[in-house]
Amino acid sequence: MKAIRGFKDILPGEVEKWQFVEMKAREIFNLFGFAELRIPVLERTELFARSLGESTDIVGKEMYTFADRDGESITLRPEATSSIMRAYLEHGLYLKEPIGKYYFIGPMFRYERPQKGRLRQFHQIDAEILGVEEATADAEILVMLMRYLESLGLKDLGLQINSLGCPTCRLPYKLAIQNFLQHKRDSFCGECQRRLTTNPLRVFDCKQEACQSHLTSAPVVLDYICDPCREHFAQVQKLITEVNLPYSLNSRLVRGLDYYTRTAFEVVAHNLGAQNAVCGGGRYDKLAEDIGGPSVPGIGFAIGMERLIMLLSPSQNYARRPDVFLAFLGPEARQRGFALAQELRQAGLGVEIDYSAKSLKSQMRKADRYQCPYVGILGTEELSKGIIVLRNMITKEQEEVPIENLPQRLKIKNTPPPSPGANN
Ligand code: HAM
Repeated sequence: MKAIRGFKDILPGEVEKWQFVEMKAREIFNLFGFAELRIPVLERTELFARSLGESTDIVGKEMYTFADRDGESITLRPEATSSIMRAYLEHGLYLKEPIGKYYFIGPMFRYERPQKGRLRQFHQIDAEILGVEEATADAEILVMLMRYLESLGLKDLGLQINSLGCPTCRLPYKLAIQNFLQHKRDSFCGECQRRLTTNPLRVFDCKQEACQSHLTSAPVVLDYICDPCREHFAQVQKLITEVNLPYSLNSRLVRGLDYYTRTAFEVVAHNLGAQNAVCGGGRYDKLAEDIGGPSVPGIGFAIGMERLIMLLSPSQNYARRPDVFLAFLGPEARQRGFALAQELRQAGLGVEIDYSAKSLKSQMRKADRYQCPYVGILGTEELSKGIIVLRNMITKEQEEVPIENLPQRLKIKNTPPPSPGANN
């Protein structure tokens, strides 16, 4: 039996990188006052249809949608923003916490063609600020995002930003795009021709190279946005410039979901190949109303974890090594040593033990494989003297330590266990 196409196991050796990026996210998001909010895997299909838009690729052809046993149409979440907003409204959080700052880490599902950096079950680190219309929230979310990526030691990332305007100024832009497409209608694929009447902005999502190349001369939204939107966008840029956050303007950035208004952004990695967007996000001031709630502005981002992990340094060891390996010779030593291992763990030390009565040589090989800095050797003779031989695996020096002093001795010797991600 094999896992289904586009779905992947994450095995030990790799999983430590996931734990590292998750731990860092929690640490940094905490500094910015974000709370974790956990959402369900399944939602009513209607939620995504209304929030993301019927004519988007996600809703049109990528959702895992099926009828529940009682006939209700349900969908595996393809993203988190819609659910976070739904939860915020459903639980009346907007009344208790007019400004909500939430994050969520978990799997999402989209029926896309799998390739490097693109899966059908993929994972996102998502953060949202709800209830703030002002540009300060946009700047804050961008700063938090880039500080987080920086904390992972990632370089060569480009932050691209744009403004998509509000529904009012989007209208003249829509007409301009429609006009442009109408003139070149025959150059576009059948699907784009359909988009022309349903939702012309969605032509930018087309994955066909020919369509993309014709779009290079298309009108850009920044030329059409109204004064308040222009002022809002200028304010965002002023604030992020104030903290020296590097960014570039990308007037062709439209994002693939319908809920976006005003600020939209992506973080692009230069060495990831075709799927180079590590993160996407933006403002969605009309989403709450689109799903039947009051007016609640919002802005947020989602980082694709698979792509993020591909960017981590391959030379860095993210796994935590045990502090000590205990090797036993003889059944009495094994019995006492088994209890000693529990005492050491109780004292906060990471311990690996020998499970099968093998030769000392084979136990030492095992300790090497675990990259343990110390090995404690306990045989019948040591046991009768109440000591254990402690071997430093780097210097090869050995010393005799009274068994009851071992936890203390190791605690002194071991520099605090390297946090995952520290060079070790
Ligand atoms: P998105 O651009 O659809 O935005 O996805 C965000 C990120 O998820 C992408 O930049 C990419 O790194 C990753 N991603 C998307 N699809 C896949 C896939 N099939 N395989 C691997 N990684 C993938 C959103 O999802 C919005 N909810 C972001 C947002 C939050 N906007 C406001 N708040």
